[in-house]
Amino acid sequence: MTDLSSSPLDRFRLDDKVVVVTGASSGLGVGFARAVAAVGATVVLAARREDRLESLAEELRAGGTRVLTRRTDVAVEAECQALAAAAAEEFGRIDVLVNNAGLGTSGTTALREDPAAFDQVVDVNLKGVYWMARACAPHMPQGSSIVNIASVHGWAASRFPGAAYAASKAGVVGLTRDLAQQWAQRRGIRVNALCPGYFDSEMTSQDGDVLGAMVEQTGILHRFGQQEELDSALLFLASPASSYMVGASLVVDGGLSATI
Ligand SMILES: NC(=O)c1ccc[n+]([C@@H]2O[C@H](COP(=O)([O-])OP(=O)(O)OC[C@H]3O[C@@H](n4cnc5c(N)ncnc54)[C@H](OP(=O)(O)O)[C@@H]3O)[C@@H](O)[C@H]2O)c1
Repeated sequence: MTDLSSSPLDRFRLDDKVVVVTGASSGLGVGFARAVAAVGATVVLAARREDRLESLAEELRAGGTRVLTRRTDVAVEAECQALAAAAAEEFGRIDVLVNNAGLGTSGTTALREDPAAFDQVVDVNLKGVYWMARACAPHMPQGSSIVNIASVHGWAASRFPGAAYAASKAGVVGLTRDLAQQWAQRRGIRVNALCPGYFDSEMTSQDGDVLGAMVEQTGILHRFGQQEELDSALLFLASPASSYMVGASLVVDGGLSATI
């Protein structure tokens, strides 16, 4: 049973928890790493651009956080296994996996889409999430949490073409439910998905003007979200604060999915 005796805010803390964040070299992943470190976590940073990981690690270590970095391509299962093994060897276990690494799509219409580009998006966004979950689960004790970063487009269509992206993120929502069902009772690992709307990052800056115009016309708040507005949801799902949530998707999208 979860210890419910601490104060509500204390239940959001991750003191001495070991948190793996993939896609920690830019965008949302950098913010997530800073957020979990701010509430006491030890952090394992993964992505392909090692120089970016190292500069974030330096920043976090200066604030007193224990950090491990590891170059990882999440589309390669063996690299996911190596990352999980390195994290467990260094820190003894993995308490939280933030499955954040992802690729956007170019806005190509379905009949023009290059099959190889479709495969690449699915390999990273869907299969990468699965490979990471499989690699980390054996190192995760009872009470652990996996947060899969899906998207509002796992639930609602965008005005712009993005078949591979939408399919991969809807796949993550389904995968989340299935892994939750397999692991909650048997292993004590809760699996949930976080579904952001639009937030500034390298991914969204590629089509920044177009997305900005769309967000102004749709949704309820008519603006991009800010990193801090997503960090609080991430901390909720990662920590014991969400101990009764499992197999769920938490949508943080300024009302996009409520209106489109
Ligand atoms: N920003 C938004 O509005 C938004 C909305 C909904 C969902 N999301 C999701 O949020 C997550 C983060 O995206 P972002 O917006 O922060 O985009 P971003 O700035 O482009 O960051 C993507 C991250 O994923 C990593 N990555 C990409 N391919 C990888 C691979 N094969 N192996 C390991 N890491 C890989 C990148 O690192 P390297 O290139 O160094 O490997 C980078 O750190 C994604 O899953 C995205 O789909 C974002």
